[in-house]
Amino acid sequence: MWRGEWVPAGGLVLLDVYGQNHDELLWGDPYAFRPRRLLGRPAGRDELIPQGGGDPATGHRCPGEGLTVGVLEALAARLARMEYRVPEQNLTIPLHRVPTRPRSGFLMADVR
Ligand code: HEM
Repeated sequence: MWRGEWVPAGGLVLLDVYGQNHDELLWGDPYAFRPRRLLGRPAGRDELIPQGGGDPATGHRCPGEGLTVGVLEALAARLARMEYRVPEQNLTIPLHRVPTRPRSGFLMADVR
């Protein structure tokens, strides 16, 4: 028994990464792309969990999270300075792939 839930011995418990990151109660309008929602109130360790929850030293949280966030920080600043256009493409994300990516990848084109 864990927090009122019965878990059989040897049972498999999966962290619902997608469900947590799209929880209406936590995020309000969770499908809207609104990164500013985290301004002034950074997400807690186990709130926004694209790379798993808990402590990577003692659990299965992704140990590459620091590296990933560092690369994204450097890339976001460079992308913000670049001029490009985003042509028509298929940005839907298949949920049966791990890791997943937009169906068309992400195509960028010269503005000229
Ligand atoms: C966008 C990038 C990434 C995403 C979304 C991601 C996501 C995840 C997730 C969801 C897990 C499973 C956590 C769990 O069991 O609950 C995981 C595990 C893992 N990730 Fe990542 N990851 C990313 C990048 C990386 C990078 C860059 C590295 C290595 C440099 C890495 C190495 C690992 C390893 C070794 C595990 C297994 C940890 C374990 O089971 O103890 N990941 N990742």
